[in-house]
Amino acid sequence: MATQRSLKVFAGIALGLMIFLSLGIAMHGYGFQLRISGSPTFHERFDHYPVTSTMHVLGGATVLLLGGFQFWGGLRRSFPALHRNMGRVYLVFVLVGGIGGLLIAPKSDGGVSAHVGFGLLAVIWLFSGLQAYLAIRRGDVATHRAWMIRNFSLTFGAVTLRVYLGAMTAFGIPFEEAYPTVAWVSWVPNLILVEWYLALFTASRRPARSGSVEPSHAHGATA
Ligand code: HEM
Repeated sequence: MATQRSLKVFAGIALGLMIFLSLGIAMHGYGFQLRISGSPTFHERFDHYPVTSTMHVLGGATVLLLGGFQFWGGLRRSFPALHRNMGRVYLVFVLVGGIGGLLIAPKSDGGVSAHVGFGLLAVIWLFSGLQAYLAIRRGDVATHRAWMIRNFSLTFGAVTLRVYLGAMTAFGIPFEEAYPTVAWVSWVPNLILVEWYLALFTASRRPARSGSVEPSHAHGATA
């Protein structure tokens, strides 16, 4: 009982922290577009492809702004229509930001490793968004949840990227070395962690005898 309560408190704190960090980087995205944040090097480069970079930054910022709240169980239960509408907006902006990200990936800093890392991230981001959409269209809530969790773990890569880049720079690793690494490290571990979580969660709810999972019970989100 006490363990369950502790787990709930831990999940609440983790969700709060995730939303807080997401909002911070979303603000950086909007600030970047308004030229009140971001490095001059990025601004100069993005000025060469204003349409795709705007698609990417505004799409990404909006997705980060909304995404964390979708995992707040209380909000979802109290305002289901709001959850659905925010979900629609989220997926539209994943499409916009993902296409933008894919088109700017080959022009990024960090050489081929970064181009491929960001490019693959964009492709999986778009793919997981599409799978989440298709699942909810056919009424398969459990599969929709699983794909949305995967998708947001990739969205959250925008946060982990900046945390890792900041840490690596603080440890004296030059930007040119750190950047190709974070183009992968910012999202691959997130995805592995989520797969582990989903496997564990689904396994813990699998009926002992049948070995199968009722889709509507295979939730993979908080609360
Ligand atoms: C998850 C998929 C994402 C991919 C594939 C991706 C890809 C990229 C790429 C390739 C660049 C250019 C880097 C360069 O020119 O060196 C970039 C920069 C940028 N991205 Fe993303 N990104 C993603 C998510 C996001 C999100 C969710 C945001 C939300 C704020 C965001 C905001 C930005 C900003 C503001 C920049 C400019 C650089 C900076 O100030 O940090 N991105 N992204």
